Amino acid sequence: MINLLKKANRVTESFFGNSVFFRGLIEFSNVCEKNCLYCGLRKDNNSIVRYTMTEEEILEVVRWAHAEGYRTIVLQSGEVSSPKRVDFICRVVEKIKKMEGIVVSLCVGELSMEDYKRLFNAGATRFLLRIETSNPDLYKKIHPQDHSFTKRLECLSYLKEIGYQTGTGIMIGLPGQTQEDLINDMLFFKKMDIDMVGMGPYIPHSKTPLQDYPVHLTRKELLDLSLWMIASTRILLKDVNIVATTALQAIDPNGREKALLAGANVLMPILTPKKYRNQYLLYENKPCVEEEGKECTNCLRRRLTKIGKRLDLKLVGDSPHFLR
Ligand code: 5AD
Ligand code: SF4
Repeated sequence: MINLLKKANRVTESFFGNSVFFRGLIEFSNVCEKNCLYCGLRKDNNSIVRYTMTEEEILEVVRWAHAEGYRTIVLQSGEVSSPKRVDFICRVVEKIKKMEGIVVSLCVGELSMEDYKRLFNAGATRFLLRIETSNPDLYKKIHPQDHSFTKRLECLSYLKEIGYQTGTGIMIGLPGQTQEDLINDMLFFKKMDIDMVGMGPYIPHSKTPLQDYPVHLTRKELLDLSLWMIASTRILLKDVNIVATTALQAIDPNGREKALLAGANVLMPILTPKKYRNQYLLYENKPCVEEEGKECTNCLRRRLTKIGKRLDLKLVGDSPHFLR
């Protein structure tokens, strides 16, 4: 296993040296129309206060991030497919794009081809939409009846067709998931010719139906499985961007650093204002909910220095795979 992780790190360094790309993550709304069985933001979870940041609140964070040197902003939210929501995101993206040299990534779920096009024309050029699992049967088990695996695949192909730098990913350690599923997930990324991968451990949330299914892995096993998955994905896919996700830090205080030494090359510091952070809990024990953006940036910078990696804040950090 150690050899596998080291090999993955060598592959990563052959493309990126020791530099790590930063993406400023703004979780701008926790309102969601969907009811995924694993997620704390699911519509039927009445125990959270729903929020949507105003245009000005989002722009204020982006202005700060831009001055700090960030060149990639990720706007993430629960899924809302109304035309009003799409208009809102288009407006925000257009304004963000007026700031020099900024790239906008979206992570706002399933939409129509038309809506994805509108957002692209507004200036968003990257999109993250996780497949969650490439096994259609498992997908069915972790989503309510009105979700469709085929629709999710269709959305991914729309994004690629429009020309987005497209990212996808899965959850690791889902109840009922096998190692064979994970291997198929990697082959799926390869087959879909994906540019970016974001994956992390599944962490149960007590206000969700999936909580009732026993998780068969200890934290240590879950961490090892996640690192194995990241390393193997790097070795198989080679030149894509791979995120060291925050969820890794929820299961190990140094989870993200471990991932960065095992194939990952991207960090997504949370820039969401503190007052909203503890309302954006996809899973429980989410780290960094007591911090502000500045603290997260500095903390991650320190963590990188400790492992001999270098923060590349000013680079927009395109996926070499996409450029090729
Ligand atoms: N544990 C880990 N990841 C989760 N997500 C949602 N719920 C959980 C959970 N309980 C992830 C999904 C989704 C992303 C936004 O968050 O993969 O695509
Ligand atoms: Fe909504 Fe996304 Fe959570 Fe599903 S995973 S409930 S779409 S926020």
